[in-house]
Amino acid sequence: MRAEITASIMCADLLNLERDVKALEKAGVDYFHYDIMDGHFVPNMTLGLETICEIQKRVNVRSDFHLLTKEPEDIIPLLDAGENDLISFHYQATKDIEKCITLIHELGAKAGIVLDVEDHYEVLAPYIEKIGFVNLMMITPGFAGQPMVDGMIEKIMNTRKWLDSQKKHEIKIMVDGNVNYERARLMHKLGGDILVAGSSSLFKGDMSFEESLKTFEEYTKHRALY
Ligand code: DX5
Ligand code: ZN
Repeated sequence: MRAEITASIMCADLLNLERDVKALEKAGVDYFHYDIMDGHFVPNMTLGLETICEIQKRVNVRSDFHLLTKEPEDIIPLLDAGENDLISFHYQATKDIEKCITLIHELGAKAGIVLDVEDHYEVLAPYIEKIGFVNLMMITPGFAGQPMVDGMIEKIMNTRKWLDSQKKHEIKIMVDGNVNYERARLMHKLGGDILVAGSSSLFKGDMSFEESLKTFEEYTKHRALY
């Protein structure tokens, strides 16, 4: 199965947001990836809840919320998310991971834990019965267009291997940061199920959204694990 593509909305043309989100919906993107930042957990602020609500009113695309905030438990209940949507929060952002997962499940959404580049996948062990996916950061988060950190491609493979060894084949791996077409091929082959398409691909401006999604489809057709 091809990789699913989640469009990083912070990388869209923010002054032509309605045009972009409608075009992405028409092109058939799988999810909209909403980076929500607080200026503390990461030194940036991007999309606010009001803006996201307006997008959700106008288009019918599944939501993929990526919370880059301290104490995500305060934000989760404010999200408009349901059973087809994804919500992930950073492992290091909260003292109460269980509570965050429970709050996400109360909305009916799938819960994911985001691992920063320095976080080992084995920290997920106590939560693997409850999470639906893991979001692996390829970059130090906060800003689009940053270089890939060494060793992150291998981390996708090692995380997949470890999840499989725990019999958690159904837990998906999201890959966030620096996803271009060539890398997407490898990221998917090694275990990436959902790829965040940002300034390195979908919003690079070198092809239409349709062409970009077709290219992703072409490049992520096959998976040969490990
Ligand atoms: C960064 C965000 C990503 C970002 C990655 O903190 O989480 O969604 O858009 O896209 P690139 O690396 O391609 O700009
Ligand atoms: Zn993100």
